[in-house]
Amino acid sequence: MPGVLTQTTPFKTITVKELHPTFGAEVSGVDFENSTDEQFDEIVAAMAKYGFCVFRSTPLTDATHVSFSRRFGSLDNIARFLTPGRALRYEHLELFDASNLDTSGAILPANSPRAHSSRGNRLFHTDSSFNPRRASFSLLRAVELPPPETGGNTDFADSRTAWDRLPDDMKAELLRDDWTGAFSMAHSRKLGSPEFFADMDPVEAAPMARHKIVQVHEASGRVGLYVGAHLHHLEGEGMSAERSKALVEFLNAWCQRKEFVVSVKWEREGDLVIWDNRAVLHRAGEWSGDGVFRRDMRRTTVHDDGERAWGENVVDTEMPNINAWIAKKAAVGEVKVA
Ligand code: OGA
Ligand code: MN
Repeated sequence: MPGVLTQTTPFKTITVKELHPTFGAEVSGVDFENSTDEQFDEIVAAMAKYGFCVFRSTPLTDATHVSFSRRFGSLDNIARFLTPGRALRYEHLELFDASNLDTSGAILPANSPRAHSSRGNRLFHTDSSFNPRRASFSLLRAVELPPPETGGNTDFADSRTAWDRLPDDMKAELLRDDWTGAFSMAHSRKLGSPEFFADMDPVEAAPMARHKIVQVHEASGRVGLYVGAHLHHLEGEGMSAERSKALVEFLNAWCQRKEFVVSVKWEREGDLVIWDNRAVLHRAGEWSGDGVFRRDMRRTTVHDDGERAWGENVVDTEMPNINAWIAKKAAVGEVKVA
């Protein structure tokens, strides 16, 4: 399709290698410790164009990962998930733990609540869509990688091109109806591990967040689908439960068509991938090493400060947290919290 990546932006301070005809780039030449404003602006421009960028072998530490991320905006943090007495693997609360390790650094048993919860990340999703204030960028860094032959890639789907290539009549209908999506973390956890979460009802676990499912991506001016595994149902005049279910399934399956997907292999510790949650979907890819090998990944998440950041939600609504449900289940002896 013409016009997706055909325009050429002459970057002066970074080198860009395109990974796919419509999105994704590997970017080199970045000075992470001392990036000039000019270089940082080019990274932001590359993000607008490509949706996700891969940076190999960065020298980032926990501290500089956080300080570099702050240049994109204010950061979300894990303070609301901490239970009294819980030890931390590292000191920076801005780093979300996407590893398969417990707080002492040991590999999580496959039946631990966190392992069950992580299974939801294997489905295409947009980080923080279940939050009233959604996320703009996520910055995920490899701290320790499993043997490459076990897999453990991160996969990306181009939700802007997925929109572009929907049938015209469907696009017209979606623009006319302007559905609101209700997003729930409990929903994706349940999809990822149905048995473990069998008696968790997403409607009761935590308040859902509401965002439009078709939106203009401000930085590029392109339209994109804002869907993924956290999307529980659609709301709007004339929407029924059956139609909602069918449309959510259709749009999620559509975005995952092969032509829209790229799989990123983590090559070395220090590799960093930045993605724009408003322009791409992502998931933890196939991995045969879970429970056997260590995979230590840490992520900062930037609060969206765009016009649609709070979607249909009341500004300053508290962020939902389903950990209370898991803690309750643990308290009645059904699970051992790791
Ligand atoms: C995340 C995520 C995927 C992965 O950190 O938000 O979805 O491959 N991670 O670990
Ligand atoms: Mn994620």
